[in-house]
Amino acid sequence: MKKDMSVLQLISYVLFLGIMLVRPTTSATGATLRADLTHVDSGRSFTNLELLRRLTARSTAQAARFGVSTQAATVPVARGTTGNLEVDSEYLIHFGIGTPSPQAVALTLDTGSDLIWTQCACTNTTCFEQPFPVFDPSASGTIGAVSCSDPICTAQGGLPDNGCSAQDNLCLYAYTYADKSITQGTIIQDTFTFSDVAVPSLRFGCGTNNSGIFTSEESGIAGFGRGPLSLPSQLNISMFSYCFTTIVESARSPVFLGTPDNLGANAQSTPFIPSSSSHYYLPLQGITVGETLLPLDASVFAIKNDGSGGTIIDSGTGITRFPQAVFQSLQEAFVSQVSLPVANASDTGGLLCFSTPQAADPKSVSVPKLIFHLDGADWDLPRESYVLDVENDGNGGALLCVVIFSAGENGMTIIGNFQQQNTHIVYDLEANKMVFAPASCDKL
Ligand SMILES: *[C@@H]1O[C@H](CO)[C@@H](O)[C@H](O)[C@H]1NC(C)=O
Ligand SMILES: *[C@@H]1O[C@H](CO)[C@@H](O)[C@H](O)[C@H]1NC(C)=O
Repeated sequence: MKKDMSVLQLISYVLFLGIMLVRPTTSATGATLRADLTHVDSGRSFTNLELLRRLTARSTAQAARFGVSTQAATVPVARGTTGNLEVDSEYLIHFGIGTPSPQAVALTLDTGSDLIWTQCACTNTTCFEQPFPVFDPSASGTIGAVSCSDPICTAQGGLPDNGCSAQDNLCLYAYTYADKSITQGTIIQDTFTFSDVAVPSLRFGCGTNNSGIFTSEESGIAGFGRGPLSLPSQLNISMFSYCFTTIVESARSPVFLGTPDNLGANAQSTPFIPSSSSHYYLPLQGITVGETLLPLDASVFAIKNDGSGGTIIDSGTGITRFPQAVFQSLQEAFVSQVSLPVANASDTGGLLCFSTPQAADPKSVSVPKLIFHLDGADWDLPRESYVLDVENDGNGGALLCVVIFSAGENGMTIIGNFQQQNTHIVYDLEANKMVFAPASCDKL
């Protein structure tokens, strides 16, 4: 799609008045960097019912759009696909950009995309609300420009939608996500500070025209995909890991850029499927619910000859989705093994929920196990990673919900962040495998 470069030019011109260009210093840190993660709703005191509504609102519309985006598995990006136009279940990585005083950013950690960007210099431009001031390039002494001839300012470099502001030779970008969120602005570079460790000359988008699904808690997105622009790629690290607390907690947990601490003894690993896309494809082969291995052929999870389908793990998607046939089989298995009435799906945003009497503590209801069978590993999900207990449904009852969506007839399988709660997940980029272990994430 063509961009209106005259408008982009104007933005970059205004933005770069007063910015000094500083020659980047070279240094690489071999040690593991650590940054804090929070759930986007952390500390906001939502009840489980409110969380459920936030997770599931408008799922139908979302599913329809997601179906379109999965046609070509190589184009960005599976983000914001919990099925909610206004909010999403997201985990934010916190660090600072710029010197001498690092300016705070809070970016959605997204293994489904590559670009790192934060809202920037938003005077008279379209930005969403964020909880602290937007990044001010003119307040940083180490800000640097990225010229139009830089290799990153190309489709191969990771920016299919690039441009150049002729008068000041700055790389312009537009980046669109599967949920139709979009950011436009200028690629710049600066020092990032992770818990007091400064890493110079990292490239990111200074987003001056940003719209779509964003909450008022974040300032942008940090791409952790396989492409050259992502944070792991730019840091040239051989592995990274994260551990997501449950969405009902407000504790912080870590992301490790480099070799993680405390993986624990119960780690398992499974190879990533080689792919030229920036997504992380997993060899999912089957699913067990309770005592039942679902009667499915492993090919329902595999990448098809045209590149569609397949199974990815995506930290930027909230709720896991399966192709309709898998979803249906999974629902049937839960319904046949849980001896409670099924709640009306129109009240639960398309999720399978069971009605429980309010007097009973829903947590006391036993729920069948859920196990994802991967090549070489069985991912036995903790209860809180697929069940949400809603103590009060507003109608005098309580609900027990299985937090999994349908991806539609031909959708791909996406393992979302709800299913990754309380699991330490390592992306070993060198050995091209995923290592995971159960964890209390706030204790790492
Ligand atoms: C900002 O983004 C919106 C949505 O993509 C687009 O319609 C609009 O033209 C953009 N504005 C500028 C000034 O580029
Ligand atoms: C990236 O790291 C690998 C080893 O992990 C090293 O061989 C390579 O030279 C590094 N590349 C850059 C650009 O630093």
